Amino acid sequence: MAALGITVALLVWVATLMLISIWKQIYNSWKLPPGPFPLPIIGNLLQLDLKNVPKSLTKLAERYGPVFTVYLGSQRTVVLHGYKAVKEVLLDYKNDFSGRGEIFAFEAHKDRGITFNNGPSWKDTRRLSLSILRDYGMGKRANEERIQREVPLLLGALRGTQGQPFDPTFLLGYAPCNVISDILFRKRFDYTDQTGLRIQKLFNENFYLLSTTWLQFYNIFPNYLRYLPGNHRKVIKNVYEIKGYTSARVKEHQESLDPNCPRDFTDRLLLKMQKEKYSAEPWCTLDNIAATVADLFFAGTETTSTTLRYGLLILMKYPEIEEKLHEEIDRVIGPSRIPAIKDRLEMPYMDAVVHEIQRFIDLLPSNLPHEATRDTVFRGYVIPKGTVVIPTLDSLLFDNQEFPDPEKFNPEHFLNESGKFKYSDYFKAFSADILVQDSHLKEALHS
Ligand code: HEM
Ligand SMILES: *[C@@H]1O[C@H](CO)[C@@H](O)[C@H](O)[C@H]1NC(C)=O
Repeated sequence: MAALGITVALLVWVATLMLISIWKQIYNSWKLPPGPFPLPIIGNLLQLDLKNVPKSLTKLAERYGPVFTVYLGSQRTVVLHGYKAVKEVLLDYKNDFSGRGEIFAFEAHKDRGITFNNGPSWKDTRRLSLSILRDYGMGKRANEERIQREVPLLLGALRGTQGQPFDPTFLLGYAPCNVISDILFRKRFDYTDQTGLRIQKLFNENFYLLSTTWLQFYNIFPNYLRYLPGNHRKVIKNVYEIKGYTSARVKEHQESLDPNCPRDFTDRLLLKMQKEKYSAEPWCTLDNIAATVADLFFAGTETTSTTLRYGLLILMKYPEIEEKLHEEIDRVIGPSRIPAIKDRLEMPYMDAVVHEIQRFIDLLPSNLPHEATRDTVFRGYVIPKGTVVIPTLDSLLFDNQEFPDPEKFNPEHFLNESGKFKYSDYFKAFSADILVQDSHLKEALHS
């Protein structure tokens, strides 16, 4: 009898908790965009396939429209799908939705750095870093020269393989790794350098693991899963190792810093943070600099390296496209000169192929998660502060009006009838990645 009594009491207790939880969610959600009904604790996990979240979001958009709400566990999340809604969020509401949704595997960067910083210092850190990159490096001639210096070294390494089969992953990756590393530390790695290889392996493994089902799951239930075995531990460990590397570089830089002669991004960030204006700020720490530099290193290297590798794979699959591209290269650049940014204007086919590669590989289909920085009225809905906001990118890159037959790789998507490059405002592979977009724009204007 006693056991039955306890069981009943427990059941009543659990049922009450569930009712309260459901009621709270309904109460909180009455002005939110529409969406599937969430269950306590798991939210809408039953409506999502964690093996392919982007596809699940597309399905939900078919049912609920371009602006909808899903609960990832208990995390309220508003998803934008399609050109109009995504563009509105990225441009017109950029101040309201420019926070960063938390990515828990980056606990080593908690409240630090740019890309994964969801704490109070993200705005200042981002602003300072951007201003340094604008003054120096990105989208200027210096960057073109940096790349032009690296190209012959990459070509040399490729020739070194003497026509034998090889895995291009890390060999190709050294090039972007070195360009970014030169900006950050004025340092480059030889194509056989073991540290350079180790860093790339950490980036590569993390980029892969972050897209797996388990890591999506971990990001929803970090507190429950933290101490269980699993690949989230590997990612966390890798992030610490990368930050260990950048910390060591930052310390070296600080010890040899000459205020009159900053050598690179790290020196400039050290100097800015030591200025009177900032030196008392709690976020101006060496640890924040190490995280910022690690963010730029990872965000710049892995994206570019993966794009190059997939580009090569695609060209192998479409020899007729490769041949047309080669013809244009031979005609405009010739066999001996190193390419320059100004060549781009005379190479519409190359421009179209590069854009089509980026569109087709859809590197970050669901973007990086944004977060509402304040309560915001958007299209008549009220989106509370702290809501994760996902401006999906695949919904633009695979729009079937703008890019007919979007599942097909076809450079014509970016060419007009006379074979000239056709700009598309739906090309948002970089989302609001200000660093890259800025440099793109400037390159186009200065050539
Ligand atoms: C193929 C190349 C690249 C692609 C496809 C790409 C894509 C993206 C995307 C989709 C975002 C999220 C933007 C958003 O939150 O709305 C992002 C953010 C970012 N990217 Fe890139 N990116 C590329 C290359 C680079 C490079 C070369 C760098 C710098 C060296 C870089 C640094 C960053 C940083 C620091 C952020 C975080 C910005 C912030 O939180 O405000 N990316 N990138
Ligand atoms: C193709 O684009 C070029 C350059 O933007 C433009 O001058 C030309 O009129 C366009 N041709 C067609 C057929 O749209």
